[in-house]
Amino acid sequence: MANRRGAVALVAAVCLLELARRGLAEEPAVPAMFVFGDSTVDVGNNNYLANSKQNCKANYPRYGVDYPFQSPTGRFSNGYNLADQLAQKLGFDKSPPPYLSLPDVAIIPQMSKGINFASGGSGLLDSTGPAVCTQVFNLTAQVQSFTSAVQKMGNGTADLISRSLIFVNTGSNDLFEYTDFPSNTTRNDTEFLQSLVASYKSQLKLLYGAGARKFSVVSPSLVGCCPSQRGIGHDKNDLDRYGCFRAPNFLSRQMYPMLDSMLRGLATDLPGMRYSLGDSVGMAELVLNGTVLPGANFTVLDRPCCGDGGAGGCNGTATLCQDRGSYLFWDGFHPTDAASSVFARELFADPGVFVHPINVHELAELRP
Ligand SMILES: *[C@@H]1O[C@H](CO)[C@@H](O)[C@H](O)[C@H]1NC(C)=O
Ligand SMILES: *[C@@H]1O[C@H](CO)[C@@H](O)[C@H](O)[C@H]1NC(C)=O
Ligand SMILES: *[C@@H]1O[C@H](CO)[C@@H](O)[C@H](O)[C@H]1NC(C)=O
Ligand SMILES: *[C@@H]1O[C@H](CO)[C@@H](O)[C@H](O)[C@H]1NC(C)=O
Ligand SMILES: *[C@@H]1O[C@H](CO)[C@@H](O)[C@H](O)[C@H]1NC(C)=O
Ligand SMILES: *[C@@H]1O[C@H](CO)[C@@H](O)[C@H](O)[C@H]1NC(C)=O
Ligand SMILES: *[C@@H]1O[C@H](CO)[C@@H](O)[C@H](O)[C@H]1NC(C)=O
Repeated sequence: MANRRGAVALVAAVCLLELARRGLAEEPAVPAMFVFGDSTVDVGNNNYLANSKQNCKANYPRYGVDYPFQSPTGRFSNGYNLADQLAQKLGFDKSPPPYLSLPDVAIIPQMSKGINFASGGSGLLDSTGPAVCTQVFNLTAQVQSFTSAVQKMGNGTADLISRSLIFVNTGSNDLFEYTDFPSNTTRNDTEFLQSLVASYKSQLKLLYGAGARKFSVVSPSLVGCCPSQRGIGHDKNDLDRYGCFRAPNFLSRQMYPMLDSMLRGLATDLPGMRYSLGDSVGMAELVLNGTVLPGANFTVLDRPCCGDGGAGGCNGTATLCQDRGSYLFWDGFHPTDAASSVFARELFADPGVFVHPINVHELAELRP
């Protein structure tokens, strides 16, 4: 009898241990994740913008063809996007829900798990977006929505916000609009880039002011390599070594060190501010150079999987590739699920080659 009781107790203890172990394993690395930026990380905010144009939404087939239930959710991807995949690395199921999908009463409760504020077509400048999309949820509005939600949460939330991850991926649309729609007045590229970085800095300061401390920032990629931009570069006879539109790529290459130095300065000025900066230019080059990474053998680098990369875009009647894991681009502007998955892995675990000064895993583990 004593033996049996002992055995039962042992089994119970093992079960409890197992529960504790699983409980720990399932606990995300940060309490919540807040996402800001453009279509690379939008999970459906634009669905709720009545005046946003069709090509600035992704809530129709063939978007989501590899998403659970083949749902077109508003993600500009065949499956998950970068926000989802980074969230998954952190231990969440996917990105937190789009802010604009939440009824007012749901906003404060959802703050404890995270919210996604990103909007396709938006940029670092609030003037970026309306010309292309008519309506976007601009970065100022994204940040204001976050800070006002933090205020409404009242006291006792500083700890939650400071331990949470702020994930920002934006800037590409500013570069697209600057190079695709040149104005007649001569422009100074350096001043333009400085204005983008100044805007980044002031938005990050507002987030810091609301209590945020952990920032994962992604620099704009070689956006001239998007299928849509390769065509423009070809027409303008302005191509780089990769056959990409040189002008926007030249801007992204200059922007990375500017962002690096801005973030260094902020971390010096703002006590407790920590960050991880992803070098998208370097990561894009790695793939464009033909490097085969674990689980990532991209053999089609210049054409999208869905559509022809031209103005028609990706929709229910556009052509669809079969082997989506071998395509770098899903449509004329956005990476495939497979490509953003590799990118998320780098942001999370890169040992210091393309992510500085620490990776997102290290950032998440910091205890302020
Ligand atoms: C940014 O968004 C806010 C809120 O929707 C809007 O009032 C403002 O006009 C927008 N800014 C620009 C430059 O479009
Ligand atoms: C927060 O705390 C401060 C001082 O501790 C107090 O004055 C203020 O009313 C509190 N605000 C809320 C929303 O509870
Ligand atoms: C630029 O110049 C062209 C031709 O001179 C003119 O038609 C167009 O309206 C100008 N655009 C702007 C933004 O000034
Ligand atoms: C562009 O702007 C920068 C910064 O204001 C300035 O140093 C530079 O001289 C300008 N370049 C030209 C060609 O005007
Ligand atoms: C890609 O190849 C070019 C040319 O060989 C080289 O300059 C560059 O450093 C490479 N980039 C990466 C990230 O490997
Ligand atoms: C990558 O894919 C190509 C085309 O399918 C294949 O020929 C090549 O062997 C693959 N490379 C690796 C390292 O798997
Ligand atoms: C759908 O996409 C195809 C290919 O990009 C394009 O030719 C067609 O015009 C698009 N249809 C609509 C309704 O936008």
